[in-house]
Amino acid sequence: MKLDPSFLDELRNRISLSQVAGRKVLWDNRKSVPSKGDMWAPCPFHQEKTASFHVDDRKGFYYCFGCHEKGDAISFVRKTENVEFMEAIEILAREAGMPLPERDPQAAQKAEKRASLTDLMEEAVKFFSLCLRGGAGREAAAYLDRRGLDQAARDRWNLGFAPDAWQGLWDHLIGKGAKPDEIMACGLARPSQKGGKPYDVFRNRIMFPIRDTRGRCIAFGGRAMDPNDNAKYLNSPETQLFDKGRTLYNHGPAREAVGKGQPLIVAEGYMDVIALSEAGFTGAVAPLGTAVTEHQLEMLWRLSPEPLIALDGDKAGLRAARKVMDLALPKLSVGRSVRFVLMPEGQDPDELLKAKGRAGMEAKLEAALPLVDLLWQRETEGRTFDSPDRRAALDKALRIATRQIPDEGLRYHYDQALKERTRELFRPARTGGGGNGYSQGFQRGKGGKGGFARNRFAPAIPLPSTKASLLVAQNPEATEYLREAVILASLVVTPAVAEDFEGDLLRMHCRDAMHAALRDLILAHALEAPGEFPDRARAALGPDALDELLCRTHVALCPPVRHPGDEEQARLTLNEEFAKLQAVRALRDEIDEATQDMDHVEDEAITWRLGDAARSSQDALRGLQEDSAEYDIGENGAPINRDERSALDALMQTIRFDKPHRNR
Ligand code: UTP
Ligand code: MN
Repeated sequence: MKLDPSFLDELRNRISLSQVAGRKVLWDNRKSVPSKGDMWAPCPFHQEKTASFHVDDRKGFYYCFGCHEKGDAISFVRKTENVEFMEAIEILAREAGMPLPERDPQAAQKAEKRASLTDLMEEAVKFFSLCLRGGAGREAAAYLDRRGLDQAARDRWNLGFAPDAWQGLWDHLIGKGAKPDEIMACGLARPSQKGGKPYDVFRNRIMFPIRDTRGRCIAFGGRAMDPNDNAKYLNSPETQLFDKGRTLYNHGPAREAVGKGQPLIVAEGYMDVIALSEAGFTGAVAPLGTAVTEHQLEMLWRLSPEPLIALDGDKAGLRAARKVMDLALPKLSVGRSVRFVLMPEGQDPDELLKAKGRAGMEAKLEAALPLVDLLWQRETEGRTFDSPDRRAALDKALRIATRQIPDEGLRYHYDQALKERTRELFRPARTGGGGNGYSQGFQRGKGGKGGFARNRFAPAIPLPSTKASLLVAQNPEATEYLREAVILASLVVTPAVAEDFEGDLLRMHCRDAMHAALRDLILAHALEAPGEFPDRARAALGPDALDELLCRTHVALCPPVRHPGDEEQARLTLNEEFAKLQAVRALRDEIDEATQDMDHVEDEAITWRLGDAARSSQDALRGLQEDSAEYDIGENGAPINRDERSALDALMQTIRFDKPHRNR
């Protein structure tokens, strides 16, 4: 098929090559200048240790100075995913959130069919709207009046009424020449079980048309007029037109409003969206009678980096909000978050607006909680932390949650924010009272280097350079992640050696959920039945997850992965990687602990501790590197080590630099 050139242009505009390529390569952070879209990495098309693969993100082109591969995002996906042109387009379009143009005669036919169904839906909108104005809809109209929706508002929202009859809509549509199977394909009628005429799905209900972003009616929500009806709201079934989990009520108008600066508000119900919009909060949407889905969350993020989740102020609403939080955590990144608007007890946005007006809602939106606060609230609310066990459990629960955040910079800040709150919570009351006041030293978990020397009443402002050294310390996290990957991959391809590393595996923390799952699988199965292990892991994690791991540039290049079954090689690498992991982790723990003390201890002491930790960690790493020069200089992607060294060197430098400043 031929694609419209404007479609390809738009696609190229919307995607960032560095993001697409970033999943396959490991950027050389020293050589790259992200702010200029100037990115360098070891080439994914040939084996090399240096970073000769260049991406010009602004132009959308890549070129390798080693093997001379070049192209754009489309050719990158074609080559690295080994797919045809159209498939590459599909992958990229999905990522960019662009629907593909209709591709073949069959699709064209489908589009035509869709068009005739949406026409029929529009006919139904008209019918319901007429009924609401007519005698049959008198009660419904009065009800809407009571709820503050006058005729003008009803028209704005295309509200209607489905009369209390079995074939009201059916007869009307048939009279207009509609085909019975099309009416049923629209989800407007159901076949009779008793052999009679099909009957209307919606009866005696106020009707809310649900439209796609292009404004076409694809479904209805119907609110029962009869309070005893067993479904207060009934929504259209899923049809060719309607995919519940990928639709948002009021999507199109909200998108426009958000584009003009309105906040994006996610409410639970149709009436909430209408009330919000009528009150001027025109960027309001709602899911369709189900919990917010992953797709809907992605759709929301396409509209706004920080949608405001304003669910009902009851238990169900809170539960739904927490579900959104859990859905969001593994997808968070810088510029992709959510906030939570907590409604007053027992109220939804519609009711709040009735009670407190626009200003009342405004105040609630202003006070929206960041995700981290909702998380904190869930883990701490109504509990006491009066024993080490409970405190440890809290730490663990928080860590489990933040571990899901894929962006390590962001995760770092979540951890910091939560640590701050934990410290605040565990701090004993200053005056008597016993309460939760037991030895403060205890909270520090590990021995007490400097910890007891803290003086809470002395002003202690950390030096900027101390903060900078902590930022540098994020790099070791990236290398830890890499090490874990190398370790796990080596064990997958040579599971026979797993039993020698059981202890190390048990002590191994993992940087993400997939790593943790794989570690647990290795512990559970590789020890007893190494022969079956790779298949078992594939079955448990899905083939994609495992292949993704094995294909990451540095993993694919490491000797044990290149020589599956070579036990000696695997042992060599595993010994080394576990040791390094431990060395870096010790440093990080030390930094974590020092950070906890930041507010309390004089700066000099912290910098000394960081320096000390960095030095010993570096010594450990240096020793290891000398032991296995072959491994480093050999086939493996040396950048792992170089990155680590440079991170530590930078850390050392900032720390040494602190000294002259000590008597500010
Ligand atoms: P609510 O009961 O909170 O709706 O359900 P609401 O908008 O506040 O309704 P009013 O104010 O009483 O008229 C929230 C949403 O959950 C879905 C609907 O999408 C509704 O808008 N729902 C609710 C159902 O799908 N079925 C139901 O029986 C109830
Ligand atoms: Mn309501």
